[in-house]
Amino acid sequence: MKVLLGVTGGIAAYKALELTRLYIKAGFEVQVVMTSGAKEFIQPLSFQALSGNPVRDSLFDANQEAGMGHIELARWADIIVIAPASAETLARLCHGRADDLLSTLVLASDRPLLVAPAMNRLMWANAATQENIELLKARGLQIMAPGSGEQACGEVGEGRLPEPQQIFNASQEVLAKVSANATRQQKLNNYWQGRKLLITAGPTHEAIDPVRFIGNRSSGKMGFAIAEAAAKAGAQVTLIAGPVSLKSSPDIERVDVRSAEQMFAAVKEHYQQQDCFIGAAAVADYRVKEAANEKIKKQDGVDELTLELVKNPDIIQWVAAQKDKPFVVGFAAETNNLIGYAKDKLARKNLDMICANLVGESLGFEAQDNQLTFITNNKVEENPLSDKQDQALALLAFIAGNN
Ligand SMILES: Cc1cc2nc3c(=O)[nH]c(=O)nc-3n(C[C@H](O)[C@H](O)[C@H](O)COP(=O)(O)O)c2cc1C
Repeated sequence: MKVLLGVTGGIAAYKALELTRLYIKAGFEVQVVMTSGAKEFIQPLSFQALSGNPVRDSLFDANQEAGMGHIELARWADIIVIAPASAETLARLCHGRADDLLSTLVLASDRPLLVAPAMNRLMWANAATQENIELLKARGLQIMAPGSGEQACGEVGEGRLPEPQQIFNASQEVLAKVSANATRQQKLNNYWQGRKLLITAGPTHEAIDPVRFIGNRSSGKMGFAIAEAAAKAGAQVTLIAGPVSLKSSPDIERVDVRSAEQMFAAVKEHYQQQDCFIGAAAVADYRVKEAANEKIKKQDGVDELTLELVKNPDIIQWVAAQKDKPFVVGFAAETNNLIGYAKDKLARKNLDMICANLVGESLGFEAQDNQLTFITNNKVEENPLSDKQDQALALLAFIAGNN
């Protein structure tokens, strides 16, 4: 394994020596990159002696570039670890700066990045630093929480560099996760590459009049996550989306609809020659029998208004009843008796598989996280709670394993 260790200008820079030693002891190849700030605190020679490699510290050094150029170096690493990471470096990463070697390497790399910040407690607590941290986390960077206690400046609080052993362990975990994800992705690609998936997502809006509708709380996130994950695994995806504000990748064919009837028409048009149909949309069971052509006005003396509803077509049941039907996957979003209702729906609608989805306070609709249980006629597999992207991967893997 190859680790590119970025060391920045902080009082804890000396602890990166111990971290280097731990990597070498564990058989890693280590290339240290120091910022100019870091060199104010510690000599590059110490890292060179421990790692066996000359330290890289300059972007514009013809001699260094003549060896392994900065882009090559970015590709060389299996993981980039920045420890300690100064407040300044965090801010620079946040802005995508590329004005020194370390920031340029980070920008030019698609490798996992682990960051261990260390600074004075007030620098850490500062809103600027905290907002930078949030932004970097949202971009998928792994950021270690700093330790708390007595600081070099004499103050007491949060901002200490985690112990070298903790940073070493965290980087091992990141590498293990990356490797597990790569294996999972490969398995998904093996099945989904070139297959055709039709998926519905989001709510439907059933018009009451030109400005009002009956809707539901489906955000579309689960269906969109499945569509994206399938496309990434090489599937040809057609996504029929109800009214949501989510974006989808350009390699997904997207059909936008509003009502259940429009969704049904789009499904009928696209269901043939599909390998799989996933009905992840929350389709309204009923629609207003006759939507008003003009906005319904509030009238004096009219205290009650009755809307007459009629049943919508059952899209998934229709697909499952076709002779040339694809593998049909439904969703059952329930607040109680989850597995019972889901099994009933599986049998009643003649589906190949159903994803039972408990909805409530912080689960299901509108939430980031979800917990799906995959059910077929002879299998029940409960997936642990995780984000919708992860649930999507698990769902696609389950389909792959059952076809
Ligand atoms: C004595 C001293 C100690 C410092 N310790 C830290 C620190 O622990 N964390 C930090 O973020 N900045 C610290 N700084 C400030 C950084 O060195 C400074 O912001 C520098 O520009 C960081 O640049 P770099 O990230 O490119 O190395 C310290 C400065 C001095 C003078």
